[in-house]
Amino acid sequence: MNYAIIGFGKIGQALAAAFARSGIEVAVATTRDPASFASAAAAIGPGIIPKKLAEAVKADIVFLAVGFASHRDVAKALPTWKGKTIVDVTNAYGVPPEELGGQPSSRAVAQAFTGFLADQTRRAFGRWTACAGAWK
Ligand SMILES: NC(=O)c1ccc[n+]([C@@H]2O[C@H](COP(=O)([O-])OP(=O)(O)OC[C@H]3O[C@@H](n4cnc5c(N)ncnc54)[C@H](OP(=O)(O)O)[C@@H]3O)[C@@H](O)[C@H]2O)c1
Repeated sequence: MNYAIIGFGKIGQALAAAFARSGIEVAVATTRDPASFASAAAAIGPGIIPKKLAEAVKADIVFLAVGFASHRDVAKALPTWKGKTIVDVTNAYGVPPEELGGQPSSRAVAQAFTGFLADQTRRAFGRWTACAGAWK
């Protein structure tokens, strides 16, 4: 099982620090070249591995830590997300409800990821809960 965090801002870096505390290796990616945030990753820990987005999304479990407006761009990084677990830590603060089609934002996000199935959301929740126990 391997992990990636997409987005290396405030939340992505906080998640990376949690991985580091637990001694779990994780890839991190943004829209930028990995070299541009390599020193920030190294400062968190040796197991925080900067990668290009196209490489990072190959992970089994992908934490989505980008601004809500960017989730569709991340979704385009793979032709299908079938079989993957996505942990959506975005929120849609400030997004008009009509843009979400009256749905919870997590469902709107899930729909953007081709091949991502509803049962994967349940699996993601279980795994996130399991991981959260290791965050201390
Ligand atoms: N901050 C909070 O307290 C908080 C709390 C709960 C939830 N959230 C949610 O968590 C998410 C992240 O928040 P944040 O505060 O960490 O935001 P942030 O500091 O603005 O970081 C966003 C990160 O996403 C990257 N990014 C943007 N577009 C991308 C794309 N298309 N592909 C790959 N990476 C991309 C950015 O990198 P580049 O633009 O440099 O490529 C940046 O590293 C948001 O949805 C926010 O609503 C935030």
